[in-house]
Amino acid sequence: MQVAATRKIVVLGTGGTIAGTSSVAGANVGYTAGQIGVQQLLAAVPALAQASPCNLEAEQIAQIDSKDMDFSVWARLAGRCAQHLADPLVAGIVITHGTDTLEETAWLLRELLAASRPVVLTCAMRPATALVPDGPQNLLDAVTLAAEPSACGVLMVAAGVVHGARAVSKVHPLRLDAFASGDEGSLGWVEAGRVRWAHGRAPAVTAPRHAALLPGLATAAWPRVEIVHSHAGADGCVVDWLVDKGVRGIVVAATGNGTLHRALEAALARAVAAGVAVRAASRCPEGRMLAIEGAPWRDAEGLSPVKARISLMLELMDGA
Ligand code: SIN
Repeated sequence: MQVAATRKIVVLGTGGTIAGTSSVAGANVGYTAGQIGVQQLLAAVPALAQASPCNLEAEQIAQIDSKDMDFSVWARLAGRCAQHLADPLVAGIVITHGTDTLEETAWLLRELLAASRPVVLTCAMRPATALVPDGPQNLLDAVTLAAEPSACGVLMVAAGVVHGARAVSKVHPLRLDAFASGDEGSLGWVEAGRVRWAHGRAPAVTAPRHAALLPGLATAAWPRVEIVHSHAGADGCVVDWLVDKGVRGIVVAATGNGTLHRALEAALARAVAAGVAVRAASRCPEGRMLAIEGAPWRDAEGLSPVKARISLMLELMDGA
């Protein structure tokens, strides 16, 4: 008689506050991120064994404070996610990550991975040594979400709220519930070990735009794309300097519905004439800019400036 192999959830550790420690007992700030290994994080939450019928498998991808996220860690993480998603025994993936650039990693993975099963990022606002750390509950919720049969795509969960990769951003430096999805709203919640989807249905999986880049990502040269802000007194000098340094792309964080200081606008027009790709994203944390009529650049399709930068880098790598 053949025994069916047990499905598994793979937990990929990258560091962050969820793996952080402080030498000051109970401190919530002033700690060092990325100290505790992912295996140890799992061992600290015995309830994980009941959260899903799947086996849990841990893998350390990196051990960093996510403010220091770089292209090599991104390439390694995306590559391992793709390999695990190709394994039919993998029911879902959980990624433990720092909160500071989590939304960027989530968007990168969303642009690269055909995730017919859930890839769930989670994090913590308090280190593992805090008096009341939030990491263990977030990890438990992430495993619950990764084991949920109706879930798919790149998701994140923190403070019991499920967000999608496109809309989520960190909106508070200290609050435990530090993430929001603006106008789009959250996708659902994890409550007492159960997933409840907003509007009663799980989100559909969206095809990644840049999956073709995955096989070569580890050795790819990432094009230099920078973000500049339109603000009072912006004179565009920084744009001219970037063009001089060989920048390939610029995302401008524009005011309101894509308006720019006229001096900055003139400098960006010079950049376009020099062959630099420019995209306009709004500085406003909520809402979505309307398409810009007659401008020599495209808008960022509702992405925040940091996510628009990732999409533009991938677009340039793809030669699109
Ligand atoms: C980090 O992003 O790695 C540190 C901050 C955090 O996780 O909250």
